[in-house]
Amino acid sequence: MTAEDPTAEDYAALLAVGAHAEADHRAFWEAAADGYHRARRHDDGVLADGVVAHLVARGILTDARVLDIGAGTGRYALRIARHAGGVHLADVSDRMLAHARADAEAAGLTGLGYTRVDWTTADLDALGWRGAFDVVFASMVPVVRSRAGIDRMTAASRAWCVVNRTIRRHDTLARHLERELGLPGRYDPGNDRAYPRALVNYLWLQGRLPTVAYVEHRTTTACSVDEAAQRYARAFTSVDGGRAAPEHGDLREVIRRVATGDEVVAEHHEVTAVISWPARAEPPS
Ligand SMILES: C[S@@+](CC[C@H](N)C(=O)[O-])C[C@H]1O[C@@H](n2cnc3c(N)ncnc32)[C@H](O)[C@@H]1O
Repeated sequence: MTAEDPTAEDYAALLAVGAHAEADHRAFWEAAADGYHRARRHDDGVLADGVVAHLVARGILTDARVLDIGAGTGRYALRIARHAGGVHLADVSDRMLAHARADAEAAGLTGLGYTRVDWTTADLDALGWRGAFDVVFASMVPVVRSRAGIDRMTAASRAWCVVNRTIRRHDTLARHLERELGLPGRYDPGNDRAYPRALVNYLWLQGRLPTVAYVEHRTTTACSVDEAAQRYARAFTSVDGGRAAPEHGDLREVIRRVATGDEVVAEHHEVTAVISWPARAEPPS
């Protein structure tokens, strides 16, 4: 090490860059839960399947007791439950957990537990969670954008921790609308490469030797001009956007110009980074 080398503390500070743009308070997620659950119904599930297939291939889910932090409506937990020994869903929102429980019951899945907990202040000893899980998992959860959130994950695990984070979310029609309507840039948690970079370096300097796998998905969708106008109006005013909504009429007009007849096509490209690290530190000699 030289005096100029960044330290674990430097990377810990970088973990939080952009965190202010992501909500980590309970009322926000309670209000978002029904919409989040509805949106998941339109998700083809290919990315989530790919992430879980990666964990299965590495053998880390076999007979494992898994904690899913910020589990939401169970997108990952319900998939993981098909391969693991048991899954416990933790989330700050009761409503998110209620959706997850209803879907798990409808799917006939057993062996799941549910706890409402704020990971920012979670007391692992009071919860009986210190070193209690084989795998501690978190996907797109704002509260693991801090050193305390990551260190608490490691402390809850006796074997592996996994953070899943979208690093590229590209949509040709959205990009076109942004350009044409002059929509201001914004922080997008689905297009954040700074966070995984900071996390990998932070873990490395702790001697935890993280691994990174990438799962990617390309799709082409087609819908009517009206459907697209509604969908993108929602997307542009979405929870993490924090920018003014474009006028629906403006959106519709720009979309109509790129449509063929009443049909408009968009190409999507999504890449997620699956960062995993062992709970036990092995400082490089
Ligand atoms: C973007 S959603 C991701 C849900 C799920 N992991 C997925 O990938 O589909 C973020 C989730 O984190 C939860 N969350 C936000 N802040 C939290 C906190 N401080 N403690 C626990 N959960 C939190 C929200 O309620 C929400 O369910």
